[in-house]
Amino acid sequence: MAISASISRLTAYYKRHGVGGTLRRINLAARRTLFSNRMVLFYCDLSTLRSPAPEMPTRLKVERHQSQSDLNPRDLQEITSFWNSDLATRNICERFELGASLWLIRFEEKLAGYGWTLQGRTVEPHYFPLGENDVQFLDFHVFPKYRGRALDWFLMTHILHRLAEESRARAFGEAAEWNKASLSSFAMTPFRRLGWARKFTIFGHTMVSWEKNNTVEGQARPAVESAPIARAKSKDTKIPSLRS
Ligand SMILES: CC(C)(COP(=O)(O)OP(=O)(O)OC[C@H]1O[C@@H](n2cnc3c(N)ncnc32)[C@H](O)[C@@H]1OP(=O)(O)O)[C@@H](O)C(=O)NCCC(=O)NCCS
Repeated sequence: MAISASISRLTAYYKRHGVGGTLRRINLAARRTLFSNRMVLFYCDLSTLRSPAPEMPTRLKVERHQSQSDLNPRDLQEITSFWNSDLATRNICERFELGASLWLIRFEEKLAGYGWTLQGRTVEPHYFPLGENDVQFLDFHVFPKYRGRALDWFLMTHILHRLAEESRARAFGEAAEWNKASLSSFAMTPFRRLGWARKFTIFGHTMVSWEKNNTVEGQARPAVESAPIARAKSKDTKIPSLRS
């Protein structure tokens, strides 16, 4: 990440959370950098997705947007306002310019989360080059009050099936090893673990280090159609779990 972006994030965080909150966040970031700094990489061979996509509950709806002008201003505001709005707005422009798709998931018509896909290339230098028919999944986010109800699973799985219908080749995704919610969510989808790696970019050169056990995991996990769906742990009862 560029130094200017780091400073902008730090300033925005400080404005929202004050000195104590910012110091706690810096401490957490330092611990993650020192002790939990690998990324877990996932892949999905889209040609193996022969069965139909899991049925979407009627309360959920997924939309795909391929340009900023396509987006409802209220959705844009929600996506950019919860974090650092300058950086979020910049990311959105940059991604649409690269040809990315923004996928929104709605729960009872309200925006509940989103995720990006980009075909044939990556926004930043990646762990390996993508083929022109490969698709990267990036920045999936479910708004806090909708978490723990498998919305991320629905969204990722829906997208995988849509990409398979479009005859895309492979999908790739990644999650930090400390991000248990994201790892757990990936594990329920048809994504399979590719391995663990670290990436450093110094003076424009990106170096990747793979862990020893970076072999492709076999079909150890059940396919999504037969995967047991765990009960949501959320205590917020207003929005029922969609897992059962
Ligand atoms: C990662 C993320 C997208 C998962 O979305 P989600 O719709 O909550 O995913 P799931 O419902 O499948 O939950 C995944 C796991 O996290 C748990 N979880 C996450 N947030 C929770 C919450 N607020 N309350 C209870 N459980 C929660 C779930 O119970 C589940 O664990 P389990 O499989 O052991 O039961 C979401 O937590 C998020 O937006 N996080 C911040 C952004 C982020 O880290 N994105 C991923 C970048 S790769």
